[in-house]
Amino acid sequence: MDDSNTEYTDVAQLARLALSGRPQDVQLFIRRMARRYKDSVPGLAEDLKTLLRESPTRQSPLRKDNSSPVPVDIDSRLQLLRCEQVTELEVEPILSDRVRQQLEQILNERRNQGRLNDAGLAPTKTSLFTGPPGVGKTLCAHWLARELGLPLLTLDLSAVMSSFLGRTGNNVRNVLDYAKSVECILLLDELDAVAKRRDDSTEIGELKRLVTVLLQEIDDWPNTGLLIAATNHADLLDPAVWRRFELLVEFPMPGSKEARAAIIEFLGEAGANSDSWIEVLVLCLEGRSFSDIQRAILSARRNAVLAGVENADMVSTVVRDHVEHLPRQGRIGVATRLVENNVMSQRQAHDLTGVSRDTIRKSVQKNGAGKT
Ligand SMILES: Nc1ncnc2c1ncn2[C@@H]1O[C@H](COP(=O)(O)OP(=O)(O)OP(=O)(O)O)[C@@H](O)[C@H]1O
Ligand SMILES: [Mg+2]
Repeated sequence: MDDSNTEYTDVAQLARLALSGRPQDVQLFIRRMARRYKDSVPGLAEDLKTLLRESPTRQSPLRKDNSSPVPVDIDSRLQLLRCEQVTELEVEPILSDRVRQQLEQILNERRNQGRLNDAGLAPTKTSLFTGPPGVGKTLCAHWLARELGLPLLTLDLSAVMSSFLGRTGNNVRNVLDYAKSVECILLLDELDAVAKRRDDSTEIGELKRLVTVLLQEIDDWPNTGLLIAATNHADLLDPAVWRRFELLVEFPMPGSKEARAAIIEFLGEAGANSDSWIEVLVLCLEGRSFSDIQRAILSARRNAVLAGVENADMVSTVVRDHVEHLPRQGRIGVATRLVENNVMSQRQAHDLTGVSRDTIRKSVQKNGAGKT
């Protein structure tokens, strides 16, 4: 076997180990590779050795910056924090102009921290992301981590608060103390979990204590880190909590421009040559969250692949599944557009949307008259 073959085999073996989630084996194998390539590819061997020295492991995900272990729950020994170095995102976030501008402000301030410091200012260090489910709050925390090259530590409050409320205050304090000691983005996800539990009167004392812990921690959050809290019920939060955040980012539901961008993104290759359909899809999926749009399109794509049908048929399935939930005016809009865009005949549009052919014809005529 010549050298190049060995390299191929090694890369395949490395990928296999990595994908089976056995970091110990991956480390062993990289160590072996560093030895094997010492003479033939010295640069690679050196790089591998450096990586081994610096690389995070499950036990010490941030070893490079901090030697203290990640806090665990005393009884369950489960790690309270998820730590990740974000290098890839499943999708690039599609953002409204306002949200993009706010997130870019965070990036810009972090990247020019020196100039801010010279002027006696610190960058924004706490931000509250609010908005309905599935509009990109968690995704954007990942995006910021990737853009800034900072590790992302996530504390899912709904998980931490699960059963042992009595310890939650301590757990949260441990986690925040740990996060303060490293340069990172800390995401307090599902912050409303704290607020929701307030219904249960037996727990009020504990919750008050927890809110107090959070308030103190937010107040003395260091400039080196960025604290992001995400919630879809900002109204449930104690005003004292949300007033403390320096930057409030409200994630809206996608408008038609963003819905269109998302549809094109999620259709991927299946969207090629489907321009006339895309407008119809926008009408059907407008008002849905990004994650709903993603779910609808991916499920139709999966079905299309398995059934071996054309892209156009796939898109018509999405229309069929969603048009029935639209108000009558919306259904008429979809049927009209299908005919106007020459996607199908009046009869087919009627079959798909349930709108009478007469109504479709009138609506098409009216639009035509409006255009001339
Ligand atoms: N703005 C967006 N652009 C592109 N894709 C998005 C966007 N928002 C959500 N998605 C898709 O939906 C998925 C879920 O989004 P995310 O977890 O960020 O929602 P969330 O706002 O945090 O919701 P929740 O309040 O339920 O936690 C993402 O992984 C992504 O695939
Ligand atoms: Mg989320």
